[in-house]
Amino acid sequence: MSQPLKLELQKPKAKPHFGAKDFLTIAEYSTEEIQYLLDQALMLKEMQKKGQQHHYLNGKVLGMIFEKPSTRTRVSFEVGMYQLGGQATFLSSKDLQLGRGESIHDTAKVLSRYLDGVMIRTFAHETIQEFAEHASIPVINGLTDSHHPVQVLADLLTIVEHKGTLQGLKMCYIGDGNNNMAHSLIEGAVKVGMDIHIASPKGYEANQAIVEAAQKAGEQTKSQVVLTTSPQEAIADADVVVTDVWTSMGHEAEIEARKKIFLPYQVNTELCQLAKKDFIFLHCLPAHRGEEVTAEILDGPHSVVFDEAENRLHAQKAILKALMEK
Ligand code: CP
Ligand code: NVA
Repeated sequence: MSQPLKLELQKPKAKPHFGAKDFLTIAEYSTEEIQYLLDQALMLKEMQKKGQQHHYLNGKVLGMIFEKPSTRTRVSFEVGMYQLGGQATFLSSKDLQLGRGESIHDTAKVLSRYLDGVMIRTFAHETIQEFAEHASIPVINGLTDSHHPVQVLADLLTIVEHKGTLQGLKMCYIGDGNNNMAHSLIEGAVKVGMDIHIASPKGYEANQAIVEAAQKAGEQTKSQVVLTTSPQEAIADADVVVTDVWTSMGHEAEIEARKKIFLPYQVNTELCQLAKKDFIFLHCLPAHRGEEVTAEILDGPHSVVFDEAENRLHAQKAILKALMEK
């Protein structure tokens, strides 16, 4: 079984061999690689807080392609590259020839001649897979319909900072089980020895193939992945409570229908009384107060959502450094 993840800053350890050129899903990363990224994120965070220069990516340029809106992802990648001594260039898909039908294949090949890395936020996960296949530079997933791995690395960092460990904790996720956050949380939890309980309405369960693969990965770290329709069951004695919007980007036509279906899955004070007394609440944001979570919880003493948002910067800098530093 893998060692518990430690909170304390470790002396810069040798970088493990990274099996992947890209950062597309958490599942493609080993426990050792995730541990390394979290250690690096803590180191980079400390350097930034102390005002120490950390120009590991001097002169490097990251392209950022967005096919969906973003506040956190765009700003944290852009600022992260700047703090690492490089720069980021924002590429709206509307302005690229990609938006007029140029192939992903040709776009990936051309951008690989200019850039040192590319971050993409898009719809189908297959789009980013195809891009990565044809790009010779690292490709980082800034959110697809089915995965949000950079967010989950930031979530793990936030949990370890607040709880001192990851292994042995119980996380619950209440809401849309079939979205990017639920899937990446499942994949992340089993890599670090956390149990994850997902409560979602019938028809909104997590993707079966992702759950089965995670359950298999969890055999090594002693993590359980449990699906239920009962939010009360999922949250019982949880250390970490997570939710996300009921309607993800791209599903806007379903907003009203989903509001009715998901109402029993609201994270509120009554439900949270079933969690451990010292539970922490996470939400990747943007949040809708009064829908998936009440203001009392989101703005209350258990909420760590703004630490979580800040940690996007530090976790992503660790990814950028690991993939782009020569
Ligand atoms: N959590 C997150 O990815 O936020 P943005 O959509 O603002 O980038
Ligand atoms: N599940 C949400 C996450 C937003 C960061 C969405 O895809 O809209």
